[in-house]
Order: sequence, then structure tokens, then C-alpha cells
Amino acid sequence: MSDLAAAEAALRASGLPLGAPLVLLAETTSTNDLAKAAAREGAPHGSMWVAERQTAGRGRQGRRWTAAAGESLLFSVLLRTPCAPSRLPLLSLVAGLAVRDAIAAALATDTRVVVKWPNDVLVRDTKGSALRKISGVLVESMLAGSEVEGIVVGIGVNVHTRSFPDELGGRATSLALEGAPAPSRGSLLHDILAGLARDAPLVAASGLVPIHDRLSRADGLAGREVEVGGVRGIAEGIDREGRLLVRTPEGALVPTSSGEATVRGDLVAR
Ligand code: BTN
Repeated sequence: MSDLAAAEAALRASGLPLGAPLVLLAETTSTNDLAKAAAREGAPHGSMWVAERQTAGRGRQGRRWTAAAGESLLFSVLLRTPCAPSRLPLLSLVAGLAVRDAIAAALATDTRVVVKWPNDVLVRDTKGSALRKISGVLVESMLAGSEVEGIVVGIGVNVHTRSFPDELGGRATSLALEGAPAPSRGSLLHDILAGLARDAPLVAASGLVPIHDRLSRADGLAGREVEVGGVRGIAEGIDREGRLLVRTPEGALVPTSSGEATVRGDLVAR
């Protein structure tokens, strides 16, 4: 039996405000696309789409997200949380942290699992300091004028995967490869939703402060040499506006708010 089969009943019993109604699909194009289309048709807060397989899974910055059928947790949840457009980027950080915490719990470690700003989740290997990607988050929003009508949080987590395509060249990992005992997509889904349900309304209402300490402890880029949007230097944390702070060789501390952090040195992530 699939480790997702019991998820709907378990989520209903948990009383979480997210995860219902739940649509569980053997195959779809992209759960984010389904969620966005349903949001436009009036789907309620908490609606969720989970797929065993996606034929057109999407990542950030136009990348594709590929996963073999049944091996990953692939889902999108719709938030109707009141949120100013300027705070939308913070919800990506909230989602990344919720995923990090759920994966850390599944691996029974608090130190090996980190967030790569803005919202990838990576696992440090047990031997050295190399970090491999285990999850990615794609947050998309629907605006009506200056109002946020809906926020789709799409998450992919490598769970049972034991081998990755060559092009990922050792840059990806999974709960199974990291030695999680009997990883379950259903319980991972529950834990991620619990984190999101707790933190998203707080951050949407009052900014990053309620989670800033936890996010800083989970920051996998701190102290690493990075390049973001043409700024190169040493990452010195995430500020309360959710920006990555980069110390340039000239000594300036530059807050960077968009783009992807490329890392020099031994951090490896797709
Ligand atoms: C990234 O790493 O760039 C983000 C990847 C997000 C992938 C998830 S899988 C479920 C949801 N549906 C999609 O098409 N994308 C997200």
C-alpha cells in the first residue's frame, strides 16, 4: 500500500487547517498548475493536490522538477491567508523552514538539515561538509490589483529515491539515502503542513521576526562564499526582511532580495 494512501484520513483526524479538501492523483502535469487553476475557480483555503507523478513538474527560475513515480512527495497547497504583496517572498522562507524541520525530524537530526536561501533544503553528508538537495519549494501567487487572492505553495521532497539521473551528478539526495528509518510521505506531509499552518499566518501578519531565530539557525549558507545577482562575497545571514546578506571583498554588507545563490566551495546543489 502506498505510504500516501492513509494521508487523507490522518490529516482529517489531525485537525490541521491545511490539507482539505485533498486531491490525490496518480499522475498530473504539475500540482502547482492544478492548484492555480482551482484557486481561480474559488477553491478554499487549505485545498491540496498530491501526485505520485508529474509530467511537467516545475522548479524555480523556469527549471524542470523531475521525479520517478511514487518516490517523492509532490504536492501543492493553497493558502488564502491575508498577506501584503511585499510579504510574499517571506512565505517562501516559511515553507522552506517547515520542510527543513519536517526532514530533520524524519532523520532525527537537528544539525545536518539546512535551508539554502531562499527555500531549498539540503542535507549535510555525515563525512564532510558537502550538502545535497533533498527538497525544493515553488511559491506562486494570484493577485487581484494590489490584493493577494491566493498563494500556492508547491513542494517536492525526495523520499524513497535511491538513484538520481546522471545530470544531477551527486548533487541530490533523499530520505532513504540519508538513512531515514521507514520514511513515510504521509507523515512528512503532515509535519510540513503543521509547520506551514503555524508560521505562515504569523509571518504574513507581522513579518519574519517570529521565525527569524529559527531560520538563522537553519541557514546553510552562512559563512560560505556565494554569488547572488552579480554580488559576490561571504554570506552573513538572512535579515528580518528576508534578504541574504553578502559581505563583499571590499567590506560592504549588501542585502540581496532576489535570485539564486550560487555557492563556491564544497556546497553542491542542483
Ligand atoms: C525548485 O527547487 O526549484 C522548486 C521545486 C518545486 C517542485 C514542486 S513538486 C510539486 C509542485 N509542483 C510543481 O510543478 N512544482 C512543485
